[in-house]
Amino acid sequence: MTDRSDKPTHQTSSRSHALTLQSASAGETRRLGALLGGVLAAGDIVLLTGDLGAGKTAFTQGIGAGLGVADTINSPTFTILKEYAGRVPLYHFDLYRIEDPNELPALGFEDYFDGEGVCVVEWAERGEDGSGGDAAWPASWLRIEFQKVSSSERTLCCSAMGQRGRALLAEFLRVATA
Ligand SMILES: Nc1ncnc2c1ncn2[C@@H]1O[C@H](COP(=O)(O)OP(=O)(O)O)[C@@H](O)[C@H]1O
Ligand SMILES: [Mg+2]
Repeated sequence: MTDRSDKPTHQTSSRSHALTLQSASAGETRRLGALLGGVLAAGDIVLLTGDLGAGKTAFTQGIGAGLGVADTINSPTFTILKEYAGRVPLYHFDLYRIEDPNELPALGFEDYFDGEGVCVVEWAERGEDGSGGDAAWPASWLRIEFQKVSSSERTLCCSAMGQRGRALLAEFLRVATA
């Protein structure tokens, strides 16, 4: 990501809150994920938050489809990270078992964030310190907060940070509402 122009001078510190999507089924959530997967590029970071069963893994399965991943994507809860081959590699994180955000640096994730693939992080909130600090992440990301509305309905609140994050949010908006 060193060639991205996310210099602090170009960046507003505020998040862009531009997009709230509704999903009426797991299939629709996967379809939305696939649309995002179609526009992702190496170095992109997608942060997913929300309770158990909110749809983070379903969305990630869609991202995988959009990236051309052939393998079945399931929750990497017991391994924290699973890697899949696609158009670009997919690094699928699940931070459910992280109890303290300070555990993260020792796990060496920065190599993946700066890597050749797309990082999708389930339970991203467990990597954050709760004070609005997002020091765990690189300067640019797309964040999707999943909320259960009913047994079959979900709300996806999308926000972004950094130049690439905002571009990605705009692209996602374009393909998801086309
Ligand atoms: N609109 C929806 N979007 C996503 N999942 C849904 C939706 N409606 C029902 N579901 C169900 O909710 C569950 C979501 O599970 P999963 O994607 O593993 O959640 P998470 O990874 O957030 O824990 C699945 O059983 C899925 O079938
Ligand atoms: Mg999951």
